[in-house]
Amino acid sequence: MLTLCVFVSGRGSNLAALIEAIRLGRLDARIALVISNKAEAGALALARANAITALHLSPAQFTSEEAYSSSLLGMLEEHGVGLIVLAGYLKKIPAAVIQHYRHRILNIHPALLPAFGGKGMYGHHVHEAVLDYGCKVSGATVHIVDSDYDTGAPVLQQCVPVLEDDTPERLAARVLETEHEILPRAVQLFAEGRIRIEGRRVTILAKGGRE
Ligand code: GRF
Repeated sequence: MLTLCVFVSGRGSNLAALIEAIRLGRLDARIALVISNKAEAGALALARANAITALHLSPAQFTSEEAYSSSLLGMLEEHGVGLIVLAGYLKKIPAAVIQHYRHRILNIHPALLPAFGGKGMYGHHVHEAVLDYGCKVSGATVHIVDSDYDTGAPVLQQCVPVLEDDTPERLAARVLETEHEILPRAVQLFAEGRIRIEGRRVTILAKGGRE
């Protein structure tokens, strides 16, 4: 069974969606570890309430990125982690971890990348930029994590309408519902071995692993 480590920074609604998908039998995976850079993140309390090991781990606790990376890699290997999921995580994953887990780190972003992505584009900033631009659709993207913010190849994307009287909060809520649908679905595709990655091209194989 696919073993996950979920990285969080906030309330954990995407983590909750993963936990629920597992409970409903829609996701054949187990969450071995939840890690947050914020000790007070609601997502850590949510993990503990679901008997999932929850750790506060931040680069600030280490004297170097190297020490942080090797500690993190040790934990991931100790827990047999096969896929890392960034679910509302606001820090960069160290290059050594990205290298070791090449093509095995997913992130959920609340916009249709490559639009409205990159450094500083998180939370309400994204939805404000979408509304300021006058977009008629927005949505969410699950993508492979590579060395920069939000630049990895998309795995799943799903659109939502932008409504005439939308505020950033109303748009965020609509996009968040879509995040909760596509993140578990993308992780399940990994669990079924149906993701083929060649360069920036991600192919979803039919059930049974054929194209
Ligand atoms: C979500 O909008 C997600 O797209 C972004 O962080 C926000 C909060 O996520 N990456 P969560 O509720 O903590 O899962």
